[in-house]
Amino acid sequence: MELIYLNWYELALNAVKYEVLGTPRNRDIRKLVLTGMGGSGIVCDAVYAAMYGKSKIPITIVKDFQPPGWVDPTTLVCGISYSGNTLETLSNVSKSLEMGAELCVVSSGGSLIEMAESGGIPHVVIDGGLPPRAAFPQLLIATAKVLSTYGIIVHDDLEGVVEILKSVDTAVATSKELAEFLNESIPIIISNTRYYPLALRFKDELNENSKMIAKIEIIPEWAHNDIVGWEKPVNIDIIRALVLWDDDPLLEFAVDYLKGSGVKLRVLNPPGNDILSRILYGSLVAGLTSTYVAELRGVKAEETKSIEKYKDFLRGRALPAR
Ligand code: F6R
Repeated sequence: MELIYLNWYELALNAVKYEVLGTPRNRDIRKLVLTGMGGSGIVCDAVYAAMYGKSKIPITIVKDFQPPGWVDPTTLVCGISYSGNTLETLSNVSKSLEMGAELCVVSSGGSLIEMAESGGIPHVVIDGGLPPRAAFPQLLIATAKVLSTYGIIVHDDLEGVVEILKSVDTAVATSKELAEFLNESIPIIISNTRYYPLALRFKDELNENSKMIAKIEIIPEWAHNDIVGWEKPVNIDIIRALVLWDDDPLLEFAVDYLKGSGVKLRVLNPPGNDILSRILYGSLVAGLTSTYVAELRGVKAEETKSIEKYKDFLRGRALPAR
């Protein structure tokens, strides 16, 4: 896994050259649904965060089997699945198609690409063979490319934004230090709302690569409930707080407050000029940190047996509408 993360810049640069195949039926898009699970689903969150202040149309993320009731022919539903066979994503995409939605797809193959090819649906085929979570930059760039077919611009300089992934040496040094800090703890990753995708990504990487339980807290919502829990934590010695920095006074408050609780705390301030480059760099650190923690814990970063167990459970089962 480490080598894949160290190679992210080259992989991302290659993704900038991906071609969008297929043709939109309707470019007059009024609503956007992004759908995907796990390592593919995190792309939905990154796009959502990057578009939040600038999108003129509402954006919704669906990480389940059922699209919202308002999906119609003016809705673009973008299905993202590295394998192309994730049942939640497939169900959501095919139900959206029945509801008349415009579709686009990002995947390395599987049923999703078959569906896109047979229907002439706009899609990007990304290189396969990686654990989905390790393909984050490719999935992100490919999604930005397919959305741009509809005039939805996630970032106007994709080649420029991936430059941040060149700073590998600093990322490795930061990650080694963070791995020592987080090892054998219950990490709590804290960010403001703008950077919630990065907090989620960090948690997911610690779950999947390091086989650890981790949680996230998002500010300001944190200050309306979780903050009270720090008044008398059950076992503060096992907790490590990692704050993802942004230029935001609320984070200053949170760091001061948490320090007062006695919790061991680190602040990560990812470099980068915009939200997408900071999420990319932060995700590189999350990936590396989680593989170094895996080494320290003696577990195999690449293995995710429990996810396979869940997917086996789903196969061949009729799932109720939700
Ligand atoms: C595995 C991983 C998982 C998958 C998820 C969905 O590396 O990160 O979270 O991403 O099970 O599968 P895909 O991405 O194939 O749709």
